[in-house]
Amino acid sequence: MSGEIGGALEGVPGVTMGGIELEEARFEYEVCLRCHSGFQAAPQRPPVRRQLEQFDTAREIDPGNPSYHPVAGPGRNANVPSLLAPMTEGSLIRCSDCHRGEPGGAPGPHGSRYEWILGGEYQVGDQIAESPRTYALCYQCHSRSSILANESFPGHRLHVVDQKTSCAVCHDSHGISFTQGDSMEHSHLINFDVDVVGPDPTSGRLGFMDMGEQAGQCFLTCHGVAHSPLGY
Ligand code: HEC
Ligand code: HEC
Ligand code: HEC
Ligand code: HEC
Repeated sequence: MSGEIGGALEGVPGVTMGGIELEEARFEYEVCLRCHSGFQAAPQRPPVRRQLEQFDTAREIDPGNPSYHPVAGPGRNANVPSLLAPMTEGSLIRCSDCHRGEPGGAPGPHGSRYEWILGGEYQVGDQIAESPRTYALCYQCHSRSSILANESFPGHRLHVVDQKTSCAVCHDSHGISFTQGDSMEHSHLINFDVDVVGPDPTSGRLGFMDMGEQAGQCFLTCHGVAHSPLGY
């Protein structure tokens, strides 16, 4: 997987991460950024209401961010045990690895039977019964058994399986802009769904704190349980 352009998109105009217009895009994401970045960012309804909102996709995938999926440059986290081979922490992925039609269905990003033109099922919100299907989009690249065996976050199984909390309640799928959040509170794609997660009643805070390699704390309330904070 790499971001280089090919096939139907060859010779199509684009916009760089810096907002410069190109007659011919060099990378697939530059085609998408024509309409999904800057002042031209396509009108959106937010899929999930988050602590930090952002619709400019270029800002979300900026390699200067505290965390982001690696579309415009390799990711920040050197230890992502769930990645399925041949992918590594140095891999690049494309917008169309996540946004595309069904295999055998309409090609291109603008035809899919899943919401947000996703290439696989991805349920968001609360009270979602975990199954290989529910988060099939993520499990294409991240091993379900690794995630549910708590190989990184020791609370994955408790939250996802026992508490039926969707990935999207904690994780933002594109990234968090450095113009809005820092790597203390928004590493690991953490950007909470504020329809599910509220502030900690003791401190009034709502947020994550990165405490180093596979260690962190959360200040919040969820399912009536105060985290004032709770850590791992
Ligand atoms: C020529 C402009 C244009 C280009 C290029 C473009 N899009 Fe879009 N896209 C739009 C518009 C406009 C909408 C909003 C449609 C609507 O509001 O219903 C949209 C909607 C979307 C949505 C769904 C948003 C939702 O709320 O459901 C996704 C995902 C998306 N585009 C991804 C992509 C990707 C990935 C690429 C590059 C491969 C791309 N787009 C290229 C114009 C474009
Ligand atoms: C096309 C492959 C692909 C898909 C699909 C995918 N990921 Fe990833 N993901 C990656 C790669 C590659 C990395 C490694 C980036 C790095 O090392 O920082 C990664 C890293 C991550 C990280 C760690 C980021 C950090 O900075 O610590 C999280 C969290 C994550 N993905 C969650 C998800 C979720 C949730 C989904 C489903 C919406 C998903 N991923 C779907 C490829 C994918
Ligand atoms: C790792 C998978 C993944 C990658 C890579 C990815 N997206 Fe998305 N995208 C999602 C998911 C999941 C949603 C809906 C749920 C959410 O926001 O968490 C979404 C939502 C969107 C939306 C609608 C809401 C919004 O945020 O504006 C647009 C537009 C979009 N993506 C465009 C893009 C473009 C353009 C790229 C490449 C630059 C891209 N996506 C790369 C997973 C991905
Ligand atoms: C309750 C919040 C929460 C939920 C729900 C959650 N995660 Fe995470 N996840 C975390 C935290 C916190 C980390 C960072 C762990 C660390 O300190 O390295 C993480 C790390 C990750 C990583 C990077 C390390 C690795 O395991 O490879 C991936 C990928 C990931 N999560 C995917 C998912 C997917 C997929 C889902 C849904 C099936 C999910 N997460 C649900 C909180 C959550």
